[in-house]
Amino acid sequence: MENNRGQWGSNFGFIMAAVGSAVGLGNIWGFPYKCGATGGGAFLLVYLILAAVVGVTVMLGELAIGRKTGRGAVGAYASLAKKYSWVGYMGVASGFLIVGFYSVLGGMVLRYTLGFLINLFGGTGFGVDGFFGSWIANMPGMVGFYAIFMLINIVIVMGGVSGGIEKFSKIAMPCLAAIMVIVIVFVACQPGAGEGYKFLFVPDFGVLASDFFNVLKTAAGQMFFSLSLGMGCMITYGSYLAKKEDLASNSIIIPVADTIVALMAGMAVMPACAAYGLEYGAGPGLLFNSMQTVFLQGMGGTIGNIMGFLFYFLVLIAAITSSISLLEVCCAFLIDKRIDKGQEPARKKMTIIMAVIAFIVGLPTALDGLGTNVAGGAWMNNPAVMFNLPVMAATADWLDFYDFLAEGVLMPLGAMIMSILIGWVFGTKMIAEECEASGKPFKAYKYFDVCFKYIVPVIMAIVLYAQVTSFIG
Ligand code: PFF
Repeated sequence: MENNRGQWGSNFGFIMAAVGSAVGLGNIWGFPYKCGATGGGAFLLVYLILAAVVGVTVMLGELAIGRKTGRGAVGAYASLAKKYSWVGYMGVASGFLIVGFYSVLGGMVLRYTLGFLINLFGGTGFGVDGFFGSWIANMPGMVGFYAIFMLINIVIVMGGVSGGIEKFSKIAMPCLAAIMVIVIVFVACQPGAGEGYKFLFVPDFGVLASDFFNVLKTAAGQMFFSLSLGMGCMITYGSYLAKKEDLASNSIIIPVADTIVALMAGMAVMPACAAYGLEYGAGPGLLFNSMQTVFLQGMGGTIGNIMGFLFYFLVLIAAITSSISLLEVCCAFLIDKRIDKGQEPARKKMTIIMAVIAFIVGLPTALDGLGTNVAGGAWMNNPAVMFNLPVMAATADWLDFYDFLAEGVLMPLGAMIMSILIGWVFGTKMIAEECEASGKPFKAYKYFDVCFKYIVPVIMAIVLYAQVTSFIG
């Protein structure tokens, strides 16, 4: 190996890590609700087409750029053409913005997991009714669990590519799948669960005719966030992949696995809400409020605590394997810089530096209590109150503000620019050559050529427009 950046031990390990990055909170609290609320089976059809055409293409582009250059987001663009380094910087910026709030949420998931565990051992895991509302205003609690979750990330990422990220993902992801199956089967046995499947799957093809643009933008936005695309995460993970591994098939396996887990999450969450008559929703309300009520009050008793623990534990795994990939994007940036200067990577030190910066950047998302504000007992106000801005999705809390900058602007822009650069500047031949480096012919060249040049830029422009208008509309 020509440098000491690190490398995946096996293709299986790489796939577990990449699927681990893709499978996250987005699958569990975003996909099920959006699917059900935007046409069910009809949404699913649009989602599958987008994932197959746009998702696979951007995935291939990122993996190929990463492996070809052997660098993370910034280094990869810099080595292709110095003047495009800024595209890589956009990715690292997104990483910083997301890893903070993602870890605040991860900390909450950890708190809920422990809550059910304490209940199981006869303690009182959750103090009051309406725990969610009181917890998000509990500043020492929110910040403390945020710090613990960040520490878990640090320990894993410090372990290195194969010794930390891969090792953890190879155990965690099969565990996640197994627990998911248990929860799905158990939920399926609850009376009244059927309504949940109907909500999720029964196609409403009427919406395709009446509101096609809405279905398209919702599906496309969900798809690229869920696949961890547009911020150099897959560039970074691809940079640790051996030349002999098949890029094209990996670019298909990851989206397929991610979509299967999203559907499985839907089959756990929506029928559970249906069985206990809880409102369907999306985001923190669904994950922390409705689902907690399902286990605590709906199922109740020991079985409720067991299932609650298992459910939150699987969400915890999903959150960790995603947030380590976000932190790795930031760390790889520093490590590459050091290697280019002929220094040792000093991974442990670089991980701590990046995690501390990310922690500080993310702190406001914990301190405003997800928009609870000082008036509601939090220690900081949301951007709307702080800067006297109109109240809209992007200013209602710091989490959504960061999410707006990253998921709303930087990521779709990043994916769009990458596709245009590959299609029109670097040339799609570069992708073909990188794929063929594994010794297999790249059969779908013509198809990907059209995708990179025309289809992906157009769809990503739609996503960009849709995200910006929904955040500031
Ligand atoms: N794919 C993750 C999810 O669905 O929750 C989120 C994510 C992780 C986005 C890593 C981007 C990324 F680089």
